Amino acid sequence: MKRHKSLHPLSREHHTGLVFAKRLKESDEANASKVKEEFYDYWEKDLKIHFRKEEEILFPFLFGHFSFEESEIRDFFLQHAEIRKMIFENGSSLESLHKLGELIHDHIRFEENKLFPLIESRLNEKDFAGIMKVLD
Ligand SMILES: [Fe+2]
Ligand SMILES: [Fe+2]
Repeated sequence: MKRHKSLHPLSREHHTGLVFAKRLKESDEANASKVKEEFYDYWEKDLKIHFRKEEEILFPFLFGHFSFEESEIRDFFLQHAEIRKMIFENGSSLESLHKLGELIHDHIRFEENKLFPLIESRLNEKDFAGIMKVLD
């Protein structure tokens, strides 16, 4: 499906997110500490800011088009919270790195396949123009 251009910056960032999710999911005894270190660097420099853009810029533009009771809205915030919690807990076991990778992978898939199409079907051009202006 073709993404609305206002969502392109976020979708582009999802590509990098999927690369790091895969690395986490496939980490093993030999590379776990390096994978973890690189992931935390990526979190500080990119992913943390990506989450904020979605919560602080994208979400306000959903106002009036969504209800907070809708599962997609709840899932969006719950998934961000679950991922942040795992990152703050700072686990080093392979199990926790794999789990974190899975959560990030599933979250990006959820946004690309469910949330963003829904946003595209409900927002109007004025909203999209606003998103673009603020995200740039
Ligand atoms: Fe997100
Ligand atoms: Fe995202």
